[in-house]
Amino acid sequence: MKQQIRKGFSKLNKDQKINLTASYFEYPEEAARKLRSFWHNDSDIQKKLDEFSENTISNFLFPYGIAPNFVINGNMYLVPMVIEESSVIAAASSAAKFWSERGGFHAEVISTTKIGQVHFTWEGETEKLRNAMPVIKEKLINETNHITTNMRQRGGGILDIELIDMTDKLENYYQLKASFETIDSMGANFINSCLEEFGMQLKRFLKEDKTFSGKEKDCEIIMAILSNYTPECLVRTYVECNIEEFHDCDRNMNAQQFVRKFEQSVRIAQEDIYRATTHNKGVMNGIDAVVLATGNDFRAIEACAHTYAARNGKYSALTNVSIKDGKFRYELTLPLALGTVGGLTSLHPLARFSLELLNNPDADQLMMIAASAGLANNFSALKSLITKGIQTGHMKMHLYNILNHIGVTGEEKERAVDYFQDKKVSFSNVKKLVANLRRKS
Ligand code: MEV
Repeated sequence: MKQQIRKGFSKLNKDQKINLTASYFEYPEEAARKLRSFWHNDSDIQKKLDEFSENTISNFLFPYGIAPNFVINGNMYLVPMVIEESSVIAAASSAAKFWSERGGFHAEVISTTKIGQVHFTWEGETEKLRNAMPVIKEKLINETNHITTNMRQRGGGILDIELIDMTDKLENYYQLKASFETIDSMGANFINSCLEEFGMQLKRFLKEDKTFSGKEKDCEIIMAILSNYTPECLVRTYVECNIEEFHDCDRNMNAQQFVRKFEQSVRIAQEDIYRATTHNKGVMNGIDAVVLATGNDFRAIEACAHTYAARNGKYSALTNVSIKDGKFRYELTLPLALGTVGGLTSLHPLARFSLELLNNPDADQLMMIAASAGLANNFSALKSLITKGIQTGHMKMHLYNILNHIGVTGEEKERAVDYFQDKKVSFSNVKKLVANLRRKS
């Protein structure tokens, strides 16, 4: 019998939360057992996991895999990827291997600036506020010294604070737009703490400063928050080879034809937003998987990447291709505000492990690794799409999922894999085969 959800679910202890949740199932004890079966057997680790979020009652497992052979700026990496979709790690691995034999990925961090905003309303002459900005800026920087000390010691801190007049868009609306350098941390807490302090100090300044009077003495802070759009926290990675290197990519195409079709596929994604979305999804398959494996915030990375893809007023592909003087060059440039210290990167045991596996990269190096994984995944996707299509490879991987879903024995699995070597995989075909195998035995 269902228990009523009452106020104060969060106040229940973990067992009570499990029991209440399980009571929504026909067999509550079994449901509760299932939830507990995914707990980590090391209670310290489980406690840590529980504390990452709220009202936690179990863990949701995702596969953790490795894409080997990533050569980036001459260094070889085993890249950890957390992803539930079949074929993604296989695609990353195959592109990594292909490019490892052709000079690898060439990556560079172009910039690392992050942005935060204090949104406020104020009634008065914009010019008067603008004239006061040098003094306001100095005050905001001084009054946040206690927050920025550590970051400054590490070489980061507040870079600039500007007044943005938005009164033509919304009545009396302004922003303090601040830029930050957060070194190896993603910096969300640091930036948000500075911004909240900026808001309070701005209010205080207007109240106390003698040049302001009447309504000018007050402002309303609407909100103070970092922006996940970081177009100046930019990384670029590219691969390059002679066109002839593609001579054996497809039985039915020579190298020139392959490269021409590849170029067309990129141009289509640059022109058509429907294709661009899927093209970029393929890029993000690789990036998100590395971002997750290293305990970074994949929602922030996703949000930013897609805004950047639309930066010229129209959503477009994140990659670019050039074919010149017998050379093929394929490039990905995007903002990636990643961290290698702070947050989950040090708290999550497998995130820590991933960073160790990557030889404890700094944030710049992680940006280059994640971007290269994105380019690798997208390259493999296009290579398949313009040749044999993705379904052959995809459905082979998917076969395992279907077989597991049906619930087969080891022998049945082997025979199914053998049978589908040269046949189309579909749920109904697999089901039919398994039924046949069972009937025969
Ligand atoms: C599937 O996860 C990703 C692809 O659709 C990407 C693409 O179409 O480029 C294969």
